[in-house]
Amino acid sequence: MHPVLPPFPTSRPRRLRRTAGLRALVAEHSLTVSDLIWPIFVRDGEDVEEPVTSMPGVHRLSVDRAVEAAREAADLGIPAICLFPYTGPERRTADCAEAWSADNLSNRATRAIKSAVPGMLVMADVALDPYSDTGHDGFLRGGTIVNDDTVEALVKQALAQAEAGIDIIGPSDMMDGRIGAIRSALERAGHQDVVLMSYAAKYASAFYGPFRDAVGASGALKGDKRTYQMDPANSDEAMRMIARDLAEGADAVMVKPGLPYLDICRRAKDTFGAPTYAYQVSGEYAMIMAAAQNGWIDGERAMAESLMAFKRAGCDGILTYFAPAMARLLR
Ligand code: PBG
Repeated sequence: MHPVLPPFPTSRPRRLRRTAGLRALVAEHSLTVSDLIWPIFVRDGEDVEEPVTSMPGVHRLSVDRAVEAAREAADLGIPAICLFPYTGPERRTADCAEAWSADNLSNRATRAIKSAVPGMLVMADVALDPYSDTGHDGFLRGGTIVNDDTVEALVKQALAQAEAGIDIIGPSDMMDGRIGAIRSALERAGHQDVVLMSYAAKYASAFYGPFRDAVGASGALKGDKRTYQMDPANSDEAMRMIARDLAEGADAVMVKPGLPYLDICRRAKDTFGAPTYAYQVSGEYAMIMAAAQNGWIDGERAMAESLMAFKRAGCDGILTYFAPAMARLLR
């Protein structure tokens, strides 16, 4: 589309910007509460709410508090919550067995939320980083993150999540072949309705820093994740990853991080037309919050503007730590 405007003064584009009513009338995109997925951090204990220093306003919640958060989300109209368990160094192991334990933190939180707030969609990550002693998403052997053994473990993790009643599984590990393996295992086990939202285009990013604090992975992490997460220089590769994951059985795809990768969101939507999500990650949240706390930007407006940008870029929804604040603002 190449719109040609008649010359000034026949055309005065400011006519359509003059009042709030006119601006609303011609708005091309809209953000609603049903576009939001709220990532929350869960931890052990009861009645605990522990602040995450690098993410002002975000807390690690004990399971009972996570249930309260789910109730709050439901009251606000937020359709989905995404769980991330915090694991201290003492419970991280080389075999990552906690990842597929039926009673791990994530699965306990899933059951508790599904029984207290059945209409709330519960999503969880599939990846080994909350459980590994290396902080990596896969098994580290001889200096390499091994692919195929990791995929076997991820399948066990996904099956345990499905047993716990998860609605949406988000494989965030970036191993090859995991979507197909998880999809066929879910089918075989009778979990044909579990949604797979693949972190298909996930980049090796500096913007995950605060998240790694939040889940207790920062101290553990040895090296970086560049041998499995994508190079920020690449865009065609993202299209190949999305094509592959959709072909292997992903119902929806995700681009991550968010704002620095809006071009990828737009390309993904235009190319595949699949349900497309972006993850506005911890570092993006932290930047906006830090600048707002210093009085350098208007935090509320920056939040709303950044979330609208995802809709403009073609996303169907956004995982964002701002979900409850944005939902309140939208009221
Ligand atoms: C784990 C995972 C990460 C995030 C979501 N799942 C971190 C990582 O890959 O190191 C990041 C989310 C955020 O920064 O908010 N695989």
